[in-house]
Amino acid sequence: RTPEPPAMPETLEAAREAAAACRRCGLCEAATQTVFGEGPEDARLMIVGEQPGDMEDLAGRPFVGPAGTLLREVMDEVGTKPAWMTNAVKHFKFKTQGKKRLHQSPNRHEIEHCRWWLDLERKFLKPGLTLALGASAAFALTGNASAMTPRRGKIETARDGTPVLITWHPSFILRIPREEQPLRRRELADDLRRAEDFLR
Ligand code: URA
Repeated sequence: RTPEPPAMPETLEAAREAAAACRRCGLCEAATQTVFGEGPEDARLMIVGEQPGDMEDLAGRPFVGPAGTLLREVMDEVGTKPAWMTNAVKHFKFKTQGKKRLHQSPNRHEIEHCRWWLDLERKFLKPGLTLALGASAAFALTGNASAMTPRRGKIETARDGTPVLITWHPSFILRIPREEQPLRRRELADDLRRAEDFLR
């Protein structure tokens, strides 16, 4: 007998619980736990990153590590209202090197697989605008996998027809040479300001 298909979660809380038991791809094997989105359920802005990092994997909460610290700092600076914060992929993908767990980018297949959860979150949240942080989020939301540089700061249309503003991932800003960081950080701030203006 084929097993009954799992019931479609009818609330965001039910979706969070179902996601915690997700075995749709192999990433759950090594990761500590599913990191679901969080924020006010009536948030008009949804911010989508790539995947949880080392600290998020341990805490079970998105954007609590260095990239999240930078993002929250810039959000505070520009006065971004509390947003729903989530990721394209809900498990940490990494390789181990000694005691370290090194981030590995999710591939397209993993992003497409995990989109089931992102789409479900979006169905409940119905954000007025989505901010895509970096290429993985931009791909998950729009289906367009092209390079970031010409897209940054522009509003694209998500697969579900809603607007998506494309911006830098804070991890990218932390990774580039120190002298290049202020410009990219300013651009991230400009995009966050633009998001607030758009929603006004
Ligand atoms: N980077 C992301 O894309 N998401 C997080 O939650 C943390 C770091």
